[in-house]
Amino acid sequence: MNLILIGPPGAGKGTQAQRLIDLLKIPQISTGDMLRAAKAAGTPLGLEAKKHMDRGELVPDQVVIGLVEERLKAEDCRSGYMLDGFPRTLPQAEALEKLLGRMNKKLDHVVLIEVDDEIIVERITGRRSCPKCNRIFHIKFDPPKQGACACGYRGEMVHRADDREDVIRERLRVYHAQTAPLVEFYRKQGLIRAVKGVGSLDEVFDRISKVLGSKGA
Ligand code: AP5
Repeated sequence: MNLILIGPPGAGKGTQAQRLIDLLKIPQISTGDMLRAAKAAGTPLGLEAKKHMDRGELVPDQVVIGLVEERLKAEDCRSGYMLDGFPRTLPQAEALEKLLGRMNKKLDHVVLIEVDDEIIVERITGRRSCPKCNRIFHIKFDPPKQGACACGYRGEMVHRADDREDVIRERLRVYHAQTAPLVEFYRKQGLIRAVKGVGSLDEVFDRISKVLGSKGA
């Protein structure tokens, strides 16, 4: 199964992707995680990405398209993948279409997770993640059990540099201006599966499983 998870920052794309890996047995391809890894490694690409990410802007299309193109050629993507945070602009969506055409593959679903802007700020300011395995937590809605991650890490969880309120507001603005138009692009292709992103993590997961025609948690 080849699918895209789309929705505003903080909608729960990463959280649900981490659960869908077990259900669908396909890898999550998160451009945000890939760019943060490049940033942490201090590569030229990472340093370029940092300038944009810390301000809540999108990283230039050609940088991200190149990363995804490489990743989709990997062996573990042969039986499917879940794109989380890509595409985010019309040129990215068109580049993906061309790439999939060359690879003789097609998209099966575009899952749109819908959450109102007012809820997003509380979600993102309280987000923390495990520095060892990237698992996502929330200090109030989904805290680490007994202060530890399931991977065994016990210690301070990471608060992302772009999870400040002023940056979140800019990320939301960018989402509505540049990414939300993709919903129409994919709706015309009959690929949009919209789910409400509010409620418990399990409830949202069940909704997604249903629209994908898979058995939920
Ligand atoms: P990226 O990392 O992709 O960030 P994003 O799209 O802004 O999405 P988030 O990771 O913030 O949110 P999410 O929907 O995954 O929510 P999560 O599950 O964590 O991108 C970061 C930056 O990289 C971009 O701004 C851009 O600069 C750059 N970039 C990335 N891709 C790019 C591209 N294609 N092109 C150009 N630039 C790109 O959940 C959030 C919080 O809510 C968590 O704490 C979670 O525990 C909690 N939560 C989740 N579900 C629920 C629920 N149901 N109830 C209560 N709390 C919940």
